[in-house]
Amino acid sequence: HPDRPLAGRSALVTAGPTHEPIDPVRYIANRSSGTQGYAIAAALAAAGADVTLVSGPTTLPDPAGMRTVRVETAHDMLEACRAALPCDIAVCTAAVADWHVAPAPQKIKKTAGAPPPVLQLAPNPDILATLSQPSPTRPGLVIGFAAETEHVVPHATAKRLRKGCDWIVANDVSPGTGIMGGTENEVCLIDATGCEHWPRLDKTQVARKLVARIATFLQTPHPN
Ligand code: C5P
Repeated sequence: HPDRPLAGRSALVTAGPTHEPIDPVRYIANRSSGTQGYAIAAALAAAGADVTLVSGPTTLPDPAGMRTVRVETAHDMLEACRAALPCDIAVCTAAVADWHVAPAPQKIKKTAGAPPPVLQLAPNPDILATLSQPSPTRPGLVIGFAAETEHVVPHATAKRLRKGCDWIVANDVSPGTGIMGGTENEVCLIDATGCEHWPRLDKTQVARKLVARIATFLQTPHPN
């Protein structure tokens, strides 16, 4: 049906930040409102896809018409993504923390005169790279995001190859663009053939345009 071009398809979307606990009251996180990811999940569902939204902590309500799995850490986000496989489409919009620490079981106390605690950072799994790895359960279309502050297209093109995903949606999040936490986005869609620049659009319009591209891609026959 033309209104529901993704009927019968399943999609996984990661969104929001992750929180990596330092102790029971403190955490490490990236800035992310979740807005663009939730909008993509909603647009996929509106196009008829069976959507699992794996969301880190956000202030946004669970969207209607999909399964929302709430997680806190990158480790939990990866496990929730694995549990959502197999699926046809994966869109990784989450701002995953790059590192975690071994959390202290009790609140770390400030002791007068004592040196401040030193955090020993350990790397988190890369969810996009993991989902992109060749495997019988690899989604047919894996899409990542690249938030850059300069040299957007070359950086994002390199990122696409490094992560092994099919497409990268790249944007410039420099201070002054108003994109971080804002309602609009201006992106380039990068695939194996090159880069397509989209005009500045509302995040919901970016989501709809991306979903239209996904539908066209899945309707087109592909070698292997
Ligand atoms: O490496 P960088 O964070 O710039 O890459 C951004 C892309 O990779 C986004 O699609 C993000 O969701 C994904 N990512 C991920 N797991 C990580 C780090 C990034 O899925 N640990």
